Amino acid sequence: MTILLTGGTGKTSTPLAHRLSDRTAQTVLLASRKGIKPETLSGSNHSNVHPVTFDWYDRNSWQNPFDYVTSRTLSQIDYIYLVAPFAWDVTMMNDFIDFAREKSVNKFVLLSASQAEAGDPSLGQVHGHLKKLSTEQGVQWVVIRPTWFIGNSVVQTIYFLLTSSILQKTSVNTKLKALGTRIQSTQYGEMERHLLSL
Ligand SMILES: NC(=O)c1ccc[n+]([C@@H]2O[C@H](COP(=O)([O-])OP(=O)(O)OC[C@H]3O[C@@H](n4cnc5c(N)ncnc54)[C@H](OP(=O)(O)O)[C@@H]3O)[C@@H](O)[C@H]2O)c1
Repeated sequence: MTILLTGGTGKTSTPLAHRLSDRTAQTVLLASRKGIKPETLSGSNHSNVHPVTFDWYDRNSWQNPFDYVTSRTLSQIDYIYLVAPFAWDVTMMNDFIDFAREKSVNKFVLLSASQAEAGDPSLGQVHGHLKKLSTEQGVQWVVIRPTWFIGNSVVQTIYFLLTSSILQKTSVNTKLKALGTRIQSTQYGEMERHLLSL
């Protein structure tokens, strides 16, 4: 299993890569424009974490993570964690999701924001696209909607999502206020139990 983390050197993907590398044998691809692996992940104990060059604004670079796993005979990418670039118009993310669908990726976790409902402008458009793909093609998705600050509990929650079978369940929506975080997910009970235990 291979997980592609966009925003690879950022505040959520770097700790996520640590957690995944420390606790699982999954291959983790860290995607960013610089295409670097943060110093803290450079040790041999993090050899399953690989940096790849990726730019939301350079469609040619979207192929890089897929080429990387093929060239290294790693397992194909099956999960993608989506972190938007710092921009209002993020519609290119929908095109990338469609691109990844063509490569048979079926599971997506989107980092959005509490203000953005599905269908709203900007990240809401990406949320709406995932919902549509869920209905039309059975895509599995979760949207994380932090309010103001991405703390450790949000990273822990994303980790849980990426390593659990939660995306394989029936779709329901929920609002979980305890963490100042809204999660619109494919399943409720398991997620709620997890968050209450944090
Ligand atoms: N931080 C918060 O408290 C908070 C709260 C709510 C929502 N959010 C959302 O979280 C997202 C930011 O996530 P974060 O805090 O984990 O990241 P971050 O720390 O802001 O880092 C941004 C990451 O994205 C990469 N990046 C920037 N522009 C890119 C581009 N054009 N193409 C590819 N990669 C690019 C950067 O690496 P390179 O520079 O090497 O490309 C870096 O790895 C935003 O969408 C924001 O709306 C954040």
